[in-house]
Parts: sequence; structure tokens; C-alpha cells
Amino acid sequence: MSEHLTVVKHPLVQHKLSIMRDKSTSTAVFRQLLKEISLLLAYEVTRDLPMTTKTIETPLIEMPAPILDGRKLALISILRAGNGLLDGMLELIPSARVGFVGLYRDEETLKPVQYYFKVPDLMSERVVIAVDPMLATGNSSAAAIDLLKESGATDIRFLCLLAAPEGVARMKEAHPDVPIVTAALDEKLNEMGYIVPGLGDAGDRMFGTK
Ligand code: URA
Repeated sequence: MSEHLTVVKHPLVQHKLSIMRDKSTSTAVFRQLLKEISLLLAYEVTRDLPMTTKTIETPLIEMPAPILDGRKLALISILRAGNGLLDGMLELIPSARVGFVGLYRDEETLKPVQYYFKVPDLMSERVVIAVDPMLATGNSSAAAIDLLKESGATDIRFLCLLAAPEGVARMKEAHPDVPIVTAALDEKLNEMGYIVPGLGDAGDRMFGTK
């Protein structure tokens, strides 16, 4: 992908996102829309996957048919909210391999600390798509990408639902080679680190916690 940031302006994406932002939207509807929107975002983030051809026979004739090239994709969920994007993506790309990265913020150093890391093998040979709905400060996303690079990944994309300018800048500084695909670039972060206007805590809204 050539652009560092792609905002998917498709009307269906924007319409679904507006309903998700509304605080009166129920957990069930939020979850359903997240699944639908992640299918559309997955379509965009995979737009330039490498292709090859395979000779097949239609009922009429033999033809060189376009198919995906290379190893199965690796989808990496950044816990816990990444799991909400994962469901829809797996519907579109059912053969993808799946990994998980868990990070928490150390209250003293304020640095992200890894508590879980499990990714597919041969990461260096796969297109890797890291997913996390909210790109806020970008600190945990940048740390997650560090870990993916340590595991050998070189072709990495980052997919989120909402991005803050601060998070995009942080990612661009730490990982200029990782393109970001999002449904919206919001205005700013507030003093609590929430994206404004945003949609609140994505994990709480999709899992019904508080
Ligand atoms: N994480 C969230 O879930 N929401 C935000 O607004 C920022 C980070």
C-alpha cells in the first residue's frame, strides 16, 4: 500500500460508524455493526494483495485464473478490543492464520508491557494485518508492531476503526513502513486519552462491560 493513512469514506462504512458512535446504540447492535464494518475495512486493507494465476478449467475452456499468491495472511488481534474486528475479517478471509498480542500499561513507567504473545509461524513470509479498533496515543499499537517485527514480520498493515491524529503521528514516527487503514480520522485525544468525538471505550461497548 502506498499511502501511510487511508480513510475509508465508503457511504456504508460512514453510515454504520455513525450508528456505532451514538451512545444510545445497544451492545448487540454495536457488535453487529462492528462485524459488518470490519468486512468492509478488510476489503480495503487487502486491496493490493499479491496475485498469481492458476490454470483451471471452466465448463467451457481452460483459463489462467487469478488467485492470491503466497502464504495465508496473518491477522493479529491486539487484545482485547481487536477481537471485535477479527470476527468480521475472518468471515471474509476464513483461511487466515490468527495471532494475539496482549499489552498492559505499567502504572509507574507508563510503558506498554507484554502479557500475551502468540502468532503464526513463518511471519516473515506472510502479509500481516494487525487489528485494534482505536488508534489513540499509538503507544500500544507501536509496541505491538515492534513485537511483530521481532517475530520476523516485514509486510505489516494496521487496521482500526477510529484514529486520532496523535496516534497516526506516533505510528508514522515509529513505523513509517506500516500503512494504516481506518474508517475515520477524528479530531483529537482528550486528557484521559479518549478519542474525541470517538465512540467511548470500544472494548466496553462491544463486550457490554463498564
Ligand atoms: N481506547 C478506546 O476504547 N477508546 C478511546 O477513545 C481511546 C482508546
